[in-house]
Amino acid sequence: MALSREIMGISLTDRSSLPGCGFGRKNPFPTTTPVGSRRKKVVRIAVAAVSEDLVKSASVSASSSAAFVVPGSSDGSKFKVRVVVTVRQKKKEDLKERIAKQVDAMADMIGRNVVLQLVSTEIDPKTKGPKKSNEAVLRDWSKKTKLKAERVHYTTEFTVGADFGIPGAITVVNKHQNEFFLETMMVEGFASGPVHFPCNSWVQASKDHPGKRIFFSNKPYLPSETPAGLKAMREEELRNQRGDGKGVRKLSDRIYDFDVYNDLGNPDRGIDFVRPTLGGPEIPYPRRCRTGRAPMDTDINAESRVEKPLPIYVPRDEQFEEIKQDTFSFGRLKAVLHNLLPFMKASISNNHDIKAFSDIDALYKEGLLLKLELKDELLQKLPFPNLARESSQGLLTYDTPMIVSKDKFAWLRDDEFARQAIAGVNPVCIERLTVFPPESKLDPEIYGDVSSALKEEQIIGHLHGMTVQQAIDENKLFIVDHHDTYLPFLDRINALDGRKSYATRTIYFLTPHGTLKPIAIELSLPPQGPSSRSKRVVTPAIDATTNWMWQLAKAHVHANDAGVHQLVNHWLRTHACLEPFILAAHRQLSTMHPLYKLLDPHMRYTLEINVLARQNLINADGVIEACFTPDRYCMEISAAAYKNFWRFDKEDLHSDLIRRGMAVPDPTQPHGLKLVLEDYPYAMDGLLVWSAIENWVRTYVGYYYPSSIVVSNDRELQAWYGESVNVGHADLRHAEWWPQLATPEDLVSILTRLIWLASAQHAALNFGQYPYAGFVPNRPPLMRRLIPHEGDPDHDNFVADPQKYYLCALPSLLQATKFMAVVDNLSTHSPDEEYLGERQQSSTWTADGDMVEAFFEFSAEVRRVEKEIERRNTDPKLRNRCGAGVIPYELLAPSSEPGVTCRGVPNSVSI
Ligand SMILES: [Fe+2]
Repeated sequence: MALSREIMGISLTDRSSLPGCGFGRKNPFPTTTPVGSRRKKVVRIAVAAVSEDLVKSASVSASSSAAFVVPGSSDGSKFKVRVVVTVRQKKKEDLKERIAKQVDAMADMIGRNVVLQLVSTEIDPKTKGPKKSNEAVLRDWSKKTKLKAERVHYTTEFTVGADFGIPGAITVVNKHQNEFFLETMMVEGFASGPVHFPCNSWVQASKDHPGKRIFFSNKPYLPSETPAGLKAMREEELRNQRGDGKGVRKLSDRIYDFDVYNDLGNPDRGIDFVRPTLGGPEIPYPRRCRTGRAPMDTDINAESRVEKPLPIYVPRDEQFEEIKQDTFSFGRLKAVLHNLLPFMKASISNNHDIKAFSDIDALYKEGLLLKLELKDELLQKLPFPNLARESSQGLLTYDTPMIVSKDKFAWLRDDEFARQAIAGVNPVCIERLTVFPPESKLDPEIYGDVSSALKEEQIIGHLHGMTVQQAIDENKLFIVDHHDTYLPFLDRINALDGRKSYATRTIYFLTPHGTLKPIAIELSLPPQGPSSRSKRVVTPAIDATTNWMWQLAKAHVHANDAGVHQLVNHWLRTHACLEPFILAAHRQLSTMHPLYKLLDPHMRYTLEINVLARQNLINADGVIEACFTPDRYCMEISAAAYKNFWRFDKEDLHSDLIRRGMAVPDPTQPHGLKLVLEDYPYAMDGLLVWSAIENWVRTYVGYYYPSSIVVSNDRELQAWYGESVNVGHADLRHAEWWPQLATPEDLVSILTRLIWLASAQHAALNFGQYPYAGFVPNRPPLMRRLIPHEGDPDHDNFVADPQKYYLCALPSLLQATKFMAVVDNLSTHSPDEEYLGERQQSSTWTADGDMVEAFFEFSAEVRRVEKEIERRNTDPKLRNRCGAGVIPYELLAPSSEPGVTCRGVPNSVSI
């Protein structure tokens, strides 16, 4: 399952475009109307050099940047310019596409071509419309049809008048049968130097999508500064992407719109597959991308499902790049979900328990025997090197997860259990304990007696001579409190076959060495009467029996924590809550808007991975329900957290740490706050990454928004934020906590929060999943048995063979191996991953040279952050990340090799 480690590739990021490259060329954009801070700056325009092979391929007789005069116009009133167009080819084509390609090659020769037209930034005084060049077709399409290169360069020429001005847009009409992927265009021949057009978009055949595609140059403009020649096109392009909210979306569409989550259930399959609609007044939830599919036969309010392997609509440019689908992480995940899991299900009996710890070890050594059908070509082609095929069967082996690769028994120890609450895959639940016993916010009228059963005498022996109040006052007590999240669902969860859960609270004591020690676990069930044993407190072991009780209690805490991690912190707070901001960005921010350019790398592939999740992970009977204790109630738990807990204004690192009592504001400290628990790896490293992002965003915002007036008057910006809140998060739109967007500092805060969530926060929650949970006893995602009381029928079995009881309480072999296969893939970096501080077309993504330079400064800062993180991981004083067999905390170290590395911060939520 470690495929990506073996596929070494080169990042798409243009690493050759380092600082210094591309500067100093002549400015293609006269700086006539700078605003605010830009007035004070000497604008250095980034005009990146094109790569040598591109120039060669595009070489013509004229020099690379000088205009060439049209014969017969010796006065220079007209001149020719050239456009170099880079098209990325599909590597895999089906038969239909291959035939269409041949037809296109022939048709191209008789005039069914790709037609381009240059559009000036200026208005033609005669027509009152933008100045336009003649239309021209891409040359040599048919000749280059057989080229096998990944990228093919085409050229064409235009004749323009001397008064044409600067090209601000190029329109493209594709008269072929096939779509093609237009990567970039570059116009050469204007005296001011080459003009770049980053496109990265599929151009559909005009027979399917009539009209011209519009691509703008890389020069950013606020709406009010849009050159006259581009104003109408800017509006038109946004209108096209908004659509009209009607009809069924075709896979080739580029329309971004909102809808509720009414496609998770499948009522047509039967009552067991009915799931409530998420989103709306009854169950608030963020919105997802609209597909417009017809309703179910049995429920008009439920959207019909598209089942694997058929794809669900996502705007065409959001789809994973075709050439990567099979071998890169998304493709591997899809292969696991669509092909591997069904075979696992067929190979392993549902009720097959893990019988011994050696069964788990065997998964890493001997492998899992799968019954394969040789005739199943799909499975034979699965991109897993660890899936060996032997005759009609196959052995799937798993990589040894990090938690057992360094210290096989670390997971059993209490210090490691506690360490994972601050340096593991879910380090965002721990809070400073301020009240003892802890209090519930649940309504006793509904949930009965919700008071805690924790007593001072149960923990005082662990407090190094302090009373509980003294320990609270000295910030020595911490808690991971899942009580209120689970209790409202426990009756329903525990009525399910093979699912058993408590609502847990875990109390930790901060030792003088800066490490945490779990000192009590409270396990609550819904109160069922005065004599009910609905609450119990388990404390560290004093003998063999209590040791097993303690281990079982810790396993239940992990299962609670795994659910909250996956359903709330990972899925809801990063994947789902970001989607509305991304949809609104495509609907309201022109690609020429500076903020679109800023956010672009942080929106990559998020809609597509969320679609895959709706189809296979969070749907009824999907992987999440199969692998996590709450089963069919998983998404309702997620929705309850959205309604009761989620606040956008608290989603930045500082607010989150302060809310949890893990830090206090302190202006004398480097990041403006002081950590209560100093060796808190997630928070320590997070603050470094947060500051780097914030500085970069502040520089960028300051460049375009020198005053609050500019923020308030930017109608695209206001429409984007307004729609993100009022439509994308419609169910919470009236909450008083939504931040205002009135000043540049408001904007810095909102953008930094979004970039933090998409990059660092998601990485911290995502890429440690297999390293920590790939060994299921360390972090079981579900539990199947409660802990027996003395006198219970199970108690004798427990005492007679506690190991057997423990293993039977964990997920079954099928549940465990399914979960491992999925989280292994979720934890894998692609070879083409784009990490924080990197971006495609790194010197031509914007024409504003100062911002290219500022981005490189940000990249340098990110590298410095990484060095500091490396240093911390070798500091023996930091015992929560450095020590014998201790896994270093690298989840916020920005760079990574491909594969499962337990480190690396990609720009966006892409897996
Ligand atoms: Fe994720």
